[in-house]
Amino acid sequence: MFSKNIIFKNFLQKKNINVKKKINNILKKELIISNKLLSSFNRNYKYNYKKETLNKYKNFTTINLIGMGGSILGTEAICDFLKFKIKKKINFYNNLDSKINLKNKKNTLNLIVSKSGNTLETISNFNIILNSQKKNKNIVITEKKSSFLTKLANKLKADIIEHKNYIGGRYSVLSEVGMLPAELLGLNERKFKRLNYLIKNKHFLNQLIYNVNFIYNCVSKGRKNSVILNYDESSKNLFKWYQQLTAESLGKDNKGIFPIISSMPRDNHSLLQLYLDGPKNNFFTFFGTINEKSNQLSNKNLFGKFSILKNKNLNQIIKAQRQATQRVFKRKKIPFRSFEILSRNEETVGELFTFFVLETILLGRLMKVNPFDQPSVELIKTETTKSLI
Ligand code: PA5
Repeated sequence: MFSKNIIFKNFLQKKNINVKKKINNILKKELIISNKLLSSFNRNYKYNYKKETLNKYKNFTTINLIGMGGSILGTEAICDFLKFKIKKKINFYNNLDSKINLKNKKNTLNLIVSKSGNTLETISNFNIILNSQKKNKNIVITEKKSSFLTKLANKLKADIIEHKNYIGGRYSVLSEVGMLPAELLGLNERKFKRLNYLIKNKHFLNQLIYNVNFIYNCVSKGRKNSVILNYDESSKNLFKWYQQLTAESLGKDNKGIFPIISSMPRDNHSLLQLYLDGPKNNFFTFFGTINEKSNQLSNKNLFGKFSILKNKNLNQIIKAQRQATQRVFKRKKIPFRSFEILSRNEETVGELFTFFVLETILLGRLMKVNPFDQPSVELIKTETTKSLI
């Protein structure tokens, strides 16, 4: 258990006090070195926007969010995980599609997020959306420097909110990047901020440290695929966020962890055979929820062997499948950890963001790669520009 919201069961392993000391020291140092970068994970973080700015936009019922990678994935994760709390409509433009599905309604606000202000996909999408609208309001979140986007925002008289230059895209979910849209959607930004609370929680720290150590050992022995067995439809985007965090932070210098997301129980019927009997190059994360409302099966048409489904709801069936799969993994000695979500709220997703960010940074340090850069992403950006000239 991290807090009352999540039950975490770590990989089965022998505890080693020397390992604990070593990783704990790295963590202590990191919390100092990355103090600024991680500042948005704490409640005393100062945003570059005022509540009055948000009030100006509170009557907009639809938001078009335009961005790429770390500029949008965090908000998508939040909106997916907490969709039952969100009353407004949000459209995500997170890829280049040869035909944009334009959903322009009255009262639409465009929110454009790009740290660099020069991302081709974001600029192309914004251009087409802008051209399709008669009247619109725009908020641009970008670094305080001259860029295409700051020039365009000035031309459009858009509100410009600073994206702090020391917070990298994939670490920005709890900064202006994810919290401004969250607030516009009626969520409570303060509740997402759990770093201070969690790092004072001994149990959380122990779990984090042993978890990092286990993954590091897996990777060192060639188990380099992190397979997420996700039993919660509303967490799909959380794991897309995790996928980017892991891949971009650790995939360099011929090292890395390959994050794979499996939709369960669907993938029992496609990938599970490979997971169970294929090459031993994976470690697994089970992710599911309990206690949530779900459709009840009708007893009327259940008989014979399927009488076992009488008085059951879909969540009970999903849980049974998750537990059964875990038992098989245990029997076959396949390494796995598990997360069980007890309540779905801002704190829960804030804790998950914090856990995975700390895990990634610590793994980066142990693997001796810089978890904060993405040199090859930049490479593609430069090469694409050359192709378009
Ligand atoms: O995490 C990252 O740094 C990247 O995924 C960026 O967020 C992505 O490339 C988009 O860049 P920008 O925010 O500059 O538009």
